[in-house]
Amino acid sequence: MRFVQTLYYRLYGIHIGRRTMISLGAKLDVHRGRISIGDDCLITHGCVIVSHDGAAKMIWHGATGEGRVVIGDNVFLGVNTIVLPNVTIGSNTVIGAGSLVVHDIPSGVLAFGSPARVVRQLPVPYPRLTANDHPKTEWGSPSSC
Ligand SMILES: CC(C)(COP(=O)(O)OP(=O)(O)OC[C@H]1O[C@@H](n2cnc3c(N)ncnc32)[C@H](O)[C@@H]1OP(=O)(O)O)[C@@H](O)C(=O)NCCC(=O)NCCS
Repeated sequence: MRFVQTLYYRLYGIHIGRRTMISLGAKLDVHRGRISIGDDCLITHGCVIVSHDGAAKMIWHGATGEGRVVIGDNVFLGVNTIVLPNVTIGSNTVIGAGSLVVHDIPSGVLAFGSPARVVRQLPVPYPRLTANDHPKTEWGSPSSC
């Protein structure tokens, strides 16, 4: 099922890297399709990644509302994280559960909160997310993530 979801996102032009797991309970905005997610990422349950902003058209005349989101490699988005348009999240970064990401977040950090802010650097070398970090049930779909 997750394969079909990933295929659907890719058909809409979203770049999803190798071994990246996107929970079936997450939502990617395919309206404009300007989302890029690197390799080995874990996008957990309830995450929403938004690449356009309809509100901008109402606030600023002439605004298209179009944007983009770029997520590096080996990024963990905790449950119910929302990533707004025109944000870049660097590689090897963890975003804590329930965060609202409105500004760029650099590589190799833990960040959380609303708006998400860097809390601390992560130790290097960065452990890479593996298949074991992508929990599966006997049906092959994510359990808690
Ligand atoms: C951020 C996280 C990784 C913990 O990091 P940590 O450095 O070990 O944080 P701690 O638990 O020591 O908490 C440190 C402080 O940050 C706060 N905090 C922790 N996580 C937070 C979050 N997601 N949002 C806001 N504040 C958070 C704690 O309340 C604590 O504040 P206090 O010192 O005022 O009490 C963890 O809380 C988290 O969000 N994990 C993601 C879980 C998830 O989504 N799993 C999906 C299924 S795999």
